[in-house]
Amino acid sequence: MGKDKLKRFTELKAFSNFYQNLDFKKPCLVNFKGDSIDLKGKWKKMHFKNNHPLTLELACGKGEYTFNLAKRHANRNFIGIDIKGARIHKGAKDALEENLENAAYLRTKIELLEAFFEAGEVQEIWIVFSDPFPKDRHAKHRLTSPKFLDLYKKICSKDAIIHVKTDSELLFDYTMGVLDGKEMDYTVVERDIYRKGTAYPELTEIQTFYEKMHIKDGRNINYVQFNLFQ
Ligand SMILES: C[S@@+](CC[C@H](N)C(=O)[O-])C[C@H]1O[C@@H](n2cnc3c(N)ncnc32)[C@H](O)[C@@H]1O
Repeated sequence: MGKDKLKRFTELKAFSNFYQNLDFKKPCLVNFKGDSIDLKGKWKKMHFKNNHPLTLELACGKGEYTFNLAKRHANRNFIGIDIKGARIHKGAKDALEENLENAAYLRTKIELLEAFFEAGEVQEIWIVFSDPFPKDRHAKHRLTSPKFLDLYKKICSKDAIIHVKTDSELLFDYTMGVLDGKEMDYTVVERDIYRKGTAYPELTEIQTFYEKMHIKDGRNINYVQFNLFQ
């Protein structure tokens, strides 16, 4: 790890809004004091200290959606999740500096979500510019693959909404195909949101690190919203 990454990671570990899993085989969360802590089914009560709905931002990178949505929606809780701590550092630091008590960050593999969230605990998921994994043989790693949608069902409430925003036509078409295959209805589809406009200001007003690069390159950004349960 480079010096700067190491510095960010060391700083991150001491943030009170940050948790991480250190054991992929026996998942267990550690907090900023280095203590093991079980938050499964208890995020609202033990971390956020309220009973507001919970939104996850998966593959959050620098966590722009978690940070900006938390600022806009004081009556909801947000957790940004990624495996890369040096990236999470940005969102977690910004949230602390703004005293955003409704934003937290979690470093773990998304595959392990079930170890950290109880059935029905999550009300909304954002998946923003996740890796498209272009090769067919890696399709199972796409965060909208049937395997992942089944995982989300295990932790989401019946009314949960999923948002997917991507520059990858491959990932977008794949996601629409998965929804069709599962006979799941999408509720909103918007293609090329920057050129054609969008009915949802949060889609263009909040821009992530990767999104800014894709906009610069003139790529189309597409969005689909769907319910996990019909
Ligand atoms: C292309 S980046 C997008 C980051 C951010 N959403 C953005 O738009 O700037 C994809 C992110 O997904 C994370 N990621 C990919 N697979 C993951 C997994 N299985 N579990 C946790 N994080 C994952 C990577 O670490 C990376 O930060």
